[in-house]
Amino acid sequence: MKTKLEEIKRASLEAIANSADAAELEALRIKYLGKKGELTAVLKQMGSLSPEERPIMGQLANEVRAAVEAAIEETSAKLAEVALEKQLLAETVDVTIPGKEVKVGHKHPMYIALDEIKDIFIGMGFTVLDGPEVEFAELNFDRLNAEEGHPSRDWSDTFYFDEDSRVMLRSQTSPMQVRAMDSMELPIRIVAPGRVYRKDEVDATHSPMFHQVEGMVIDKGVTMADLKGTLNTVVEQLYGAGTQTRFRPHHFPFTEPSCEMDVQCHKCGGVGCPTCKGEGWIELLGAGMIHPRVLEMAGIDPNVYSGWAFGLGLERTAMRRFKIADLRLIFENDVRFLEQF
Ligand code: DAH
Repeated sequence: MKTKLEEIKRASLEAIANSADAAELEALRIKYLGKKGELTAVLKQMGSLSPEERPIMGQLANEVRAAVEAAIEETSAKLAEVALEKQLLAETVDVTIPGKEVKVGHKHPMYIALDEIKDIFIGMGFTVLDGPEVEFAELNFDRLNAEEGHPSRDWSDTFYFDEDSRVMLRSQTSPMQVRAMDSMELPIRIVAPGRVYRKDEVDATHSPMFHQVEGMVIDKGVTMADLKGTLNTVVEQLYGAGTQTRFRPHHFPFTEPSCEMDVQCHKCGGVGCPTCKGEGWIELLGAGMIHPRVLEMAGIDPNVYSGWAFGLGLERTAMRRFKIADLRLIFENDVRFLEQF
């Protein structure tokens, strides 16, 4: 039995030392130490030994078991280390290999123009407001003094959501004037850029969706001179010092007096050319002194406060800023076009 035990010890230690991986090691553990293993089989024969031999063999068997267990544990640790090293080696990242090129886009030309406009107004102490594109007709029309029957309220011009013409896609950013008057403390200085919608056919200067920037100031003693001074400053910052403007009388229901502002044509310098249709001037925005009834409807006393407002076409402003000839280019987003800015 002693020989048998020593043979088991020698063979098992050798096999364990040579095992290649964890699975092989586990198989060896079962082979020698398992319930039906070789060492167990020898121990079962203990009964046939004499009482003198039994403790000696017992001690030897325990020593063999301990040696085998220790060898398995040691080899297992070694194998784990080897496996980890192998994995680390296989997963090594070569940081010197050039990566895939990431294409970074850039701001759309219209938003470049918008950001310039916002910066100019923020610099003058204005707050930038954002508002809903789905708007109540009450705010888009009634509260702006455009009563029932006003031509702009017609179904042929406006996208309504309901039979009663109460909810609509806003046709102008002007309802933001009302929202500002209803929610802000006086004095008010705001600009509100955003999308507006009208039933227009698409051509070089029209689109059923376009952008406006609304502006409004309400304070004590505000005059038309403030309106002109502010807008002239904005135009010079946007288009360069010395850019000429022209204010023409016009009509809007929510301003009195009302005007339109033109900028001198950038192509011909005012002589007249195809870009300005021979006029020498390009229309940029509508503006005026806020109608006393609009102030009254917002609970503001027109005898104490006065204000001015304007609504600017953003695409048109960007087209002049970047000399873009066709409005459709702004919305098509052809990268060959966009990459030029
Ligand atoms: N909302 C007008 C339009 O869409 C533009 C406009 C004109 C806005 C005069 C104003 C204004 O605030 O005072 O044609």
